[in-house]
Amino acid sequence: MDYQLLQIVAFLTVIAFGGGLKRTSAEACSSNDLEGLIGFKNGIQMDTSGRLAKWVGSSCCEWEGIVCENATTRVTQIHLPGFIEKDLFQTQMIGKISPSITLLTSLVILDLGGLVGLSGTIPQTIGVQLPNLQKLYLFGNNLTGPIPESIGELPNLQELALHENKISGSIPSSIGSLKSLKSLLLYSNKISGTIPISLGNLTNLVELDVHDNALNGNIPNRIGQMKALEKLDLSSNSLSGSIPTSLSNLSAISVLYMDTNSLEGTIPFLSRSGEMPSLGFLRLHDNHLNGNIPPSLGYLVSLQRVSLANNKLEGALPSSLGNLLSLTELYFSGNSLSGQIPKSIGQLSQLMMLNMSNNLIEGPLPQEISPLHNLQTLDLSFNPLDLSSFPEWLTNLPSLSRIHFAGCGIQGQIPDILQTTLSPIQELDLSVNLLTGTIPSWIGSLSQLYLLNLSRNSLDSHIPDSVTSLSDLGVLDLHSNKLTGSITGAFDIEQGTSGGSLTYIDLSDNNFSIGVEEIGAGRQVHIQFLNLSHNLLKGTLPSSLGKLNSIHSLDLSFNELVSNLPEVLANLTLLERLKLQRNHFSGNIPKGLLKLTKLKELDLSDNVLQGKIPEGKPLTDFPGSSYSGNKGLCGKPLSPC
Ligand SMILES: *[C@@H]1O[C@H](CO)[C@@H](O)[C@H](O)[C@H]1NC(C)=O
Ligand SMILES: *[C@@H]1O[C@H](CO)[C@@H](O)[C@H](O)[C@H]1NC(C)=O
Ligand SMILES: *[C@@H]1O[C@H](CO)[C@@H](O)[C@H](O)[C@H]1NC(C)=O
Ligand SMILES: *[C@@H]1O[C@H](CO)[C@@H](O)[C@H](O)[C@H]1NC(C)=O
Ligand SMILES: *[C@@H]1O[C@H](CO)[C@@H](O)[C@H](O)[C@H]1NC(C)=O
Ligand SMILES: *[C@@H]1O[C@H](CO)[C@@H](O)[C@H](O)[C@H]1NC(C)=O
Ligand SMILES: *[C@@H]1O[C@H](CO)[C@@H](O)[C@H](O)[C@H]1NC(C)=O
Ligand SMILES: *[C@@H]1O[C@H](CO)[C@@H](O)[C@H](O)[C@H]1NC(C)=O
Ligand SMILES: *[C@@H]1O[C@H](CO)[C@@H](O)[C@H](O)[C@H]1NC(C)=O
Repeated sequence: MDYQLLQIVAFLTVIAFGGGLKRTSAEACSSNDLEGLIGFKNGIQMDTSGRLAKWVGSSCCEWEGIVCENATTRVTQIHLPGFIEKDLFQTQMIGKISPSITLLTSLVILDLGGLVGLSGTIPQTIGVQLPNLQKLYLFGNNLTGPIPESIGELPNLQELALHENKISGSIPSSIGSLKSLKSLLLYSNKISGTIPISLGNLTNLVELDVHDNALNGNIPNRIGQMKALEKLDLSSNSLSGSIPTSLSNLSAISVLYMDTNSLEGTIPFLSRSGEMPSLGFLRLHDNHLNGNIPPSLGYLVSLQRVSLANNKLEGALPSSLGNLLSLTELYFSGNSLSGQIPKSIGQLSQLMMLNMSNNLIEGPLPQEISPLHNLQTLDLSFNPLDLSSFPEWLTNLPSLSRIHFAGCGIQGQIPDILQTTLSPIQELDLSVNLLTGTIPSWIGSLSQLYLLNLSRNSLDSHIPDSVTSLSDLGVLDLHSNKLTGSITGAFDIEQGTSGGSLTYIDLSDNNFSIGVEEIGAGRQVHIQFLNLSHNLLKGTLPSSLGKLNSIHSLDLSFNELVSNLPEVLANLTLLERLKLQRNHFSGNIPKGLLKLTKLKELDLSDNVLQGKIPEGKPLTDFPGSSYSGNKGLCGKPLSPC
């Protein structure tokens, strides 16, 4: 459960109704109401707020959390939110919601939101018996069962908040009769079935949020009739079909989330100018949308963030994108968009993130984008840009600190100009290019560098000593180059003052030959992923290896390592993957390896190990291939000794 959100909602609820909490009648309330409240109290085994314990006698209009109508003795409001704003305190009730709550037939507001442990089902007859209900808050509990069909008989209901429970079944089509409904929050439940067509009847609905459920089927075209809608969140369901064309009629909408479904078809809306002018967030990523990006997208001048990533969009980027002057984030990655980046993008002075990776965008990069003075992250990886050289003018963008140009056809040396960018580089990904020559020693002066990925190039130097001053480095990936010499620099990087440290090192598939003896002896011991495979590393594994006690994945395969497997391997209790195949390891397999209970992948094949494989989990559960090619090994899973 989203606790913080829960608290905010509860807080707003109290602000909105806090004034009405005072009792207005000291008389005994109507006997039906009294019976209903006592029935509710009896269903609760534990109330950490202590409010129910004070419900004694028969003057229920005086009870905490109860409001009666002025002139009569009828209870009109129950306010027992889990979050008590007065004390900034989160409370819990454990127990079942009693159907006797439906005896309170004058109820206008029922607020039992965020009590965490309230279980049971929503009373079947709620709609028939509580006809005056305007606000029903049962969110943030442990409710099960369906939304009762009778809910549709509440002509005055304005807010229905049932989110963050375990409610199942489908959305009853009777909900479409709730003419006064402004807010319908059903998110984070287990609701299945289709979105009822009748929802289109809710012409006063402002907010519809059903994300994180198991809804399937199409989005009904009638959704376009909900003219008052400002926020629509259908994400994280199993919806399919195309996005209804009628969406272009929702001119009030400012939030539209439909991602993580299986929607398909073209983006149909926005066909006329001036539609949806106040749309602020458009999230349609991770669907199966195809066709072009409609040029009319440029009319949505309030857009701040657009994500159309991971669809099947194609064609050129419309130059009307340049009209979206409020844009801060633009995600188009993982489509088949082609053509050049429109020059008009240079007008987006608020833009901070531009991610167009994995498309078919062609070069050259228009220099007109150089006025993007707020741009921090630029990812153009894996496009047929054929840049041949790194566009040096990019280093003059005053905020650019995360540069991702993998697979862009960049040739030559790592450009020296990168040492004098206007903004300190934090991420540099130039992997899968045609870079040659050395890793320059100025790399050590990039004092804020967090990620360095130069993998899959043809770099042929040593690792410069200066890398040891990269105290913010967290990820170092130099795999598949022609690097030589010692690996120790990577392990001896200064510890950052911010407590940051290197967690990912991939130096595999190079020609490194020395430094294995120093693993774990340097300053970097918080490594989680270490791959040194496919090198020319010689020597023996040191016992300081046992200091890498955060490591999950260790690959030293395809080297020339000798001598016994060190006992300290048993200290690496978080290991999930251990690959030591194709070396010259000898001696027995240490019994201590039986302590590596998290191990899922093991390869010790093609060494000169001998003796009995220690018996027990996880070692005997691996297939024979994990041990094959060691002439002296025997015992389960190999043949008996
Ligand atoms: C109830 O009483 C309060 C205070 O006297 C008053 O402001 C409010 O309008 C009354 N409500 C109704 C429904 O009569
Ligand atoms: C919710 O109900 C289930 C049983 O349906 C129970 O096991 C679980 O402890 C309850 N959770 C809370 C937070 O009360
Ligand atoms: C609500 O919608 C349904 C299906 O779209 C329609 O048949 C019905 O007449 C509408 N009901 C009301 C009360 O408008
Ligand atoms: C959308 O609006 C247009 C004109 O305003 C109207 O002709 C069309 O029927 C509407 N579509 C829906 C689904 O409401
Ligand atoms: C760009 O988007 C892709 C795909 O969504 C993602 O994998 C990648 O990490 C993003 N790049 C950056 C720099 O955030
Ligand atoms: C480095 O780049 C390669 C190729 O683009 C990629 O496969 C790899 O995951 C990247 N490494 C890290 C740690 O992100
Ligand atoms: C890397 O080592 C291999 C095998 O010893 C050798 O053939 C190759 O020439 C070396 N490459 C470089 C760039 O040193
Ligand atoms: C280590 O690197 C090699 C070569 O780059 C690769 O084949 C292997 O899958 C990597 N191992 C792990 C555990 O990622
Ligand atoms: C390995 O663990 C043992 C006890 O669990 C401890 O005494 C020893 O110092 C550890 N070795 C290393 C190298 O961390």
